[in-house]
Amino acid sequence: MQSPYDDILTYRESALPGFGGRQVEALNALSRILRENSFEELWDLGCGSGELLAGLAVRNRERRFIGIDNSRDSLKVARLRAKELLNLTYRFGSLSAVSPTRNDAVICTGNTAVHFGAHRIQQWLRQRGTHGKLPRWIFLDFHHELDFLVNSPDTFRVEACGVDDDVSLSLSGLNTVRSGRFIVRQLVLVRCNLMNISGANARVTSVRQYADPVCAYDQVLMEAGFSLAERLDYVHGYGQMEGRLWTRRNDL
Ligand SMILES: C[S@@+](CC[C@H](N)C(=O)[O-])C[C@H]1O[C@@H](n2cnc3c(N)ncnc32)[C@H](O)[C@@H]1O
Repeated sequence: MQSPYDDILTYRESALPGFGGRQVEALNALSRILRENSFEELWDLGCGSGELLAGLAVRNRERRFIGIDNSRDSLKVARLRAKELLNLTYRFGSLSAVSPTRNDAVICTGNTAVHFGAHRIQQWLRQRGTHGKLPRWIFLDFHHELDFLVNSPDTFRVEACGVDDDVSLSLSGLNTVRSGRFIVRQLVLVRCNLMNISGANARVTSVRQYADPVCAYDQVLMEAGFSLAERLDYVHGYGQMEGRLWTRRNDL
């Protein structure tokens, strides 16, 4: 089955101008937070095309990194980027493929936890907890306006709009539509020639996300025996994120 991110990958840079530069800023922020904490392997759930994971693997050659994603096209790009990196591997899969040991770290960046929802994360934590296999660290982040998006009516946020060569108009944005327990977010890119608007072409990709508020994820982590170690407000390719680093209580 195709993942919507196979498609997003092909026009992400145009629809979210500056994506690449912001990923470098995100890498610097994550590097700092991870450098200060010890772990053996780091599992990246929803690693995408691997800008962040490859950067972390380059900066920490003595540790092992495993990226998991269900977008085959994103993994293709990620594997190409990591060709020379012996401490980094990628696997096609989802939450159930993440199987850390007690000394490991799990990260889920770029507002990716919303694809699984608080309930599935809770089930995963319970199952690992039962077998004494909770990781030492978990880092989750959320779009800084996630609670607003979850609680407000449908919105459209313009990411960029401009006229290129006097005649070509390009408009990109994120359309958010509420749908029961979910929000559907659409990445939109419209290009048209102002002399010929009827010939406009548009690309739209819809991604379904759980409409859980951030506190629902905090709750399941605390229930599973994690304490908040650090908060991180940082710039990410997909926007401003609020990250939280959680640590397992030692007695678990
Ligand atoms: C918003 S992107 C974030 C990518 C990367 N973590 C980053 O910070 O740049 C979300 C990623 O999660 C992946 N994803 C979404 N649902 C998934 C699922 N059920 N299983 C595995 N990966 C999933 C997508 O393919 C995509 O690469």
